Amino acid sequence: MTSRHTILSILQSADAVISGETLSARLGISRVSVWKHIQGLIQQGVPIVATSKGYRLADDPDTLMPWAFGDLSECIHYFPETPSTMDEAMRLARSGCPEFTTAVAQRQVEGRGRMRRAWASDEGGLYFTVVIRPEIPIVLAGLVNLAAAVEMAALLRDTYGVAALPKWPNDVLVDEKKICGILSQMEVEGDQVGHINIGVGLNVNNRPENHTPTAVSLKTLMGAPVPRRDILLGFLARLKNQTHGFDPDAVISAWKKENTTLGRKVRVVTLKETVEGLAVDLDDQGGLVLREADGRLRTVIYGDCFQC
Ligand code: BTN
Repeated sequence: MTSRHTILSILQSADAVISGETLSARLGISRVSVWKHIQGLIQQGVPIVATSKGYRLADDPDTLMPWAFGDLSECIHYFPETPSTMDEAMRLARSGCPEFTTAVAQRQVEGRGRMRRAWASDEGGLYFTVVIRPEIPIVLAGLVNLAAAVEMAALLRDTYGVAALPKWPNDVLVDEKKICGILSQMEVEGDQVGHINIGVGLNVNNRPENHTPTAVSLKTLMGAPVPRRDILLGFLARLKNQTHGFDPDAVISAWKKENTTLGRKVRVVTLKETVEGLAVDLDDQGGLVLREADGRLRTVIYGDCFQC
């Protein structure tokens, strides 16, 4: 740990002002060095308040800046504004970044969704892309996306008590309204997955209903603003659990157990065609099995799913 990391973790765990003298004794460096490190941290955007008695961190439970992520800070790449975290993550992945490197943005100016749609990315939402490198064959990549939706829905249910459920292929809905969309991009190495970049747009403190009447934010559901950092930390922890020793059967059964799609009449629009039928099952690669009007079974592997 560098001196700056140590100073930060001391300030983060303190609930009072910490004197320069205490920091200098804890780090074994001079007070002048402490002061220099503090100035460096302030220049990096860390909100340290200097008082006559010492230093404290200004309270900002919602900051998404790397320093606030503790042990994970080196994996977090923060952008006040970017075209899309998908592009940032792709650049990081191609340059060989470690798994779980995450690009997170305060705003995206060219945020994108599935099927070449735009994704409105106003201030207050949580927009990030995680790079993962699962050792799985390409055919199972779709299940990683389902796993991400399962985990986000479970996180929202367990932490905020909202009735969040995954909707095929990669959305999360609360009472039929979209709270989260997931977009992924994959690059392959031979017949294996090289990396999958999982892009998540979660409506937290933004107002998605301004763009889409059938969307909802966590703030609207909770009746108060919700800090985004804990959500990101919680999601990364859950995704790590799921993808280390990835178990396809566990993902499929978790998805089948709780979702908003099976048993419903749906229309799936792919880039080539539209298929309608009753959603009856999920296949072993995450494809949706539909029973069409004539009774025939048809599996769709990707598309926009509208519940009729
Ligand atoms: C969808 O529902 O169509 C998927 C939406 C995915 C949006 C996220 S926001 C973070 C990441 N960056 C993007 O440009 N898109 C994804």
